[in-house]
Amino acid sequence: MAHTVPPLKDPSLLIEKAWINGAFVSSQTGQTFPVHDPATGAVIGHCPDLTPPEVESAIAAAAAAFPSFRATTGRSRSALLRRWLDQVLSNADDLATLITWESGKARADARAEVSYAASYIEWFAEEAPRIHGSIIPASSGPGRCVCASREPVGVCALITPWNFPAAMVARKVAPALAAGCAVVLKSAGETPFTANALAELAGRAGVPAGVLNVVTALGNTVAVGRLLSMDRRVKKLSFTGSTAVGKILMAQAAGTLKKLSMELGGNSPFIVFDDCKGLDDAVAGALAAKFRGSGQTCVAANRIFVQEGIYDEFARRFTEKVEKFRVGGGFNEGVTHGPAIHERAVEKMEQHVCDALAKGAKLMTGGKRLPELGGNFFAPTVLTGMTRDMLIFSEETFGPVAGLFAFSTEREVIELANDSEVGLAGYVFSGDVDRVYRVADALEVGMVGINTGIISDAVSPFGGVKESGFGREGSKYGIEDYTVLKAVTLCTKLDSDERGR
Ligand code: SIN
Repeated sequence: MAHTVPPLKDPSLLIEKAWINGAFVSSQTGQTFPVHDPATGAVIGHCPDLTPPEVESAIAAAAAAFPSFRATTGRSRSALLRRWLDQVLSNADDLATLITWESGKARADARAEVSYAASYIEWFAEEAPRIHGSIIPASSGPGRCVCASREPVGVCALITPWNFPAAMVARKVAPALAAGCAVVLKSAGETPFTANALAELAGRAGVPAGVLNVVTALGNTVAVGRLLSMDRRVKKLSFTGSTAVGKILMAQAAGTLKKLSMELGGNSPFIVFDDCKGLDDAVAGALAAKFRGSGQTCVAANRIFVQEGIYDEFARRFTEKVEKFRVGGGFNEGVTHGPAIHERAVEKMEQHVCDALAKGAKLMTGGKRLPELGGNFFAPTVLTGMTRDMLIFSEETFGPVAGLFAFSTEREVIELANDSEVGLAGYVFSGDVDRVYRVADALEVGMVGINTGIISDAVSPFGGVKESGFGREGSKYGIEDYTVLKAVTLCTKLDSDERGR
């Protein structure tokens, strides 16, 4: 569905370049790639398809900037992040416009994302002066202790996804800068403009040249990823994306033993017990966990398990709400859900629905493309009668398709929920305190929402277990991923053993 893109208040925030060593640059080869509006297919603009030698210049800039940046105080880095935060907040409308334009996300979701991104910058501005170590008394007795302190890890390569073009940039860049690291960020090929605007705002805030570099690539993505994961000057790689790509990057990074954070795919179970406090609350939680960003989030409820006694009523109320969604171009008034990012994503949704229907699922609503709106639109879908042999059980759909599975006992649903190679998030709705404690404890995931479908919060450690990866973002733990511990043993008098040698 055509939509009218509102003009940017500050048109200079639409930047068709890459940000290297404090300057926006084009590709020396002249290679560029187009960036499309997923709602209309129209080309928004072009960005440089940087080659590995050009990305090397960004690594070199970061490596050169690191020594003086690491010598700054946490307090001054906090002030720098605060100035970046101010820039982000005062340009929130334009950032939301860029997000909707290039990712397709509905306007309200885009605004919420800007606040979410800002919350990470604010959080890590507050953490920067509090990167503490500890003093440990040595085992050999008085006069000797170990000072364990946290140092910035060095140059960080950060690879971000298209589904949160601002928040994932902020969630990685803010802790890196707070810790005193220099950064080369590779933005997603589908959504480079939001990252470029954030780089421009960081520059306006006074982030020194070379400390933050943002490289763009689409055709050259694989080569750039190889370089970032193999270059010896890069000491840490943080990646958000698919498990398959995460494994490739990890293998490539093995040669230089980089510190890694991997925030990979999910297949979140959403469990509703018949003792839940209110069915409408459980329905609201499931709608939020499933359909935020049109289902294109790694914490999306992929398998919704509902206990037999309330299954039919839950399905009825859930479907009724889904039918009220308004799908369309993200800028259109009243639109709640935008398009998928691209055609390949729609193909996967279609495949998952067809597979489920062929194996006996029942279609409650949706289940088809919406060509009258455009090539990337898929109707919000509810399927009942889901079973373990269906693709949706084992694969992340990453789209607005909700599959409802019936279960009878707690033991059965825990076994079903854990029958997955990945373990990012899980959700439990129940009014029984003993039960929520037991189930949260038993779920093999990194994050659990109890009686809520929203778990994303800058204060909370975000990350998974199993093949959903490792490392934590946000929270007081997030900073640790950008630091290394150094132990300094301090001695005021040699002990007799050492003197005798
Ligand atoms: C993601 O989908 O990668 C992040 C989701 C979130 O932060 O809520």
